[in-house]
Amino acid sequence: MSKIIHRSLAGTPPVAVAAQGVEVVDATGRRYIDASGGAAVSCLGHGHPDVLAAMHAQIDRLAYAHTSFFTTEVSEQLADHLVQHAPEGMDQVYFVSGGSEAVEAALKMARQYFVEIGQPQRTLFVARRQSYHGNTLGALAVGGNEWRRKQFAPLLMDVGRVSPCFEYRDRRADESQDAYTARLLAELEAKFIELGPDRIIGFVAETVVGATLGAVPPTPGYFGGVRALCDRYGILFIADEVMCGMGRTGTLHAVEQEGVVPDLMTIAKGLGGGYQPIGAVLAAGKVVEPLRRGSGIFQHGHTYIGHPVAAAAALAVQQVIQRDGLLAQVRKRGAVLAQLLRERLGTHPNVGDIRGRGLFMGVELVTDRATKATFDPALRLHALVKARAMDQGLMVYPMGGTIDGRHGDHVLLAPPFIASVSELEQIVDRLARAIDEALRAVKRVAA
Ligand SMILES: Cc1ncc(COP(=O)(O)O)c(C=O)c1O
Repeated sequence: MSKIIHRSLAGTPPVAVAAQGVEVVDATGRRYIDASGGAAVSCLGHGHPDVLAAMHAQIDRLAYAHTSFFTTEVSEQLADHLVQHAPEGMDQVYFVSGGSEAVEAALKMARQYFVEIGQPQRTLFVARRQSYHGNTLGALAVGGNEWRRKQFAPLLMDVGRVSPCFEYRDRRADESQDAYTARLLAELEAKFIELGPDRIIGFVAETVVGATLGAVPPTPGYFGGVRALCDRYGILFIADEVMCGMGRTGTLHAVEQEGVVPDLMTIAKGLGGGYQPIGAVLAAGKVVEPLRRGSGIFQHGHTYIGHPVAAAAALAVQQVIQRDGLLAQVRKRGAVLAQLLRERLGTHPNVGDIRGRGLFMGVELVTDRATKATFDPALRLHALVKARAMDQGLMVYPMGGTIDGRHGDHVLLAPPFIASVSELEQIVDRLARAIDEALRAVKRVAA
């Protein structure tokens, strides 16, 4: 019996022994197409030779140097690269080792900014229901994933909560898209006013909602409206692009497609593509300047921030994305994936919605397309889809609780940017079969 506290204490998952390109191989020799990039991580697939070479070279040169003593050439180069490709004005970078750490750092940087500019009364964050920002206590507090929060809620800071931008479920039949967007923005402004706008530090949101809703993009104008409201009340806008960023939606940052620039933006997953644990906060100069002029420090830090091997891996991943034109490829292959999903599942009686951007797609499962009614959560349809997909040699990222933390099932797809058209065809084929097998099992139980 394994001594590891695995995610499920009920058993031990298959042992991964090798991985190359879009495939992971387990100890029995079974091969899995990685159609979710793990959890939207492996943007270049596995075993990319350029990334491995960069890591090996860095290990030989300098494997570690603590950031309270040194900076390193490679982390400086990575910061330069990220700033060069960041939205206008986001010209500072803080490195961490993953997504939750990035969110924690962003929350603290935002708070310290207001302390430094003489507004210490700002102590609150506002965020959305049905979002995920990480599992550490600060990130879990701003997150609105009810299932993940529930038992820890008494330990979490209070956060103002507003609706997600979830058109498929929440736009009323008699409402235009613009009217729906305006309703959400009015709700956000009302929440700011209710809490007292001068008590609010920041509004936190995933640009395209990942794990909790299943690749749900915003409606046109939503984030433009968010930006304007934050500006009106002097509130910082913090975009969480840990999952949807770094090329996943077809532009390096998903906010580029919204035409807005956040004050702080968290990135991770696709930054290092899984080759090393790394995340970062991209910060607007206007947020960092008062810290520089004031206390002269950002009062934060972890032992492994700015790790040189992680920086070398991330720099190589990002250089490959630029060199090989992979953002354009994500847009092209994303269109193919969307088309394949629509052809195969678009009229399926239990597929309510197919959505997403680039190589970040979600499929929502319903009992009835017209009413959008959901399956009984006790049936755990999402878990069955994952298991049947694994049987077919396919890794996908299904989740339950799409609507309210309990009801609703969706499947998230986030294949590597290097996936070929024939690999995308195999993904959709295996997924369709896994969904049908899971549905047959659920219907047998319900009968
Ligand atoms: C949007 C978002 N933010 C934060 C996180 C937390 O990242 P990590 O698991 O690397 O701590 C995740 C992880 O899925 C995420 O999707």
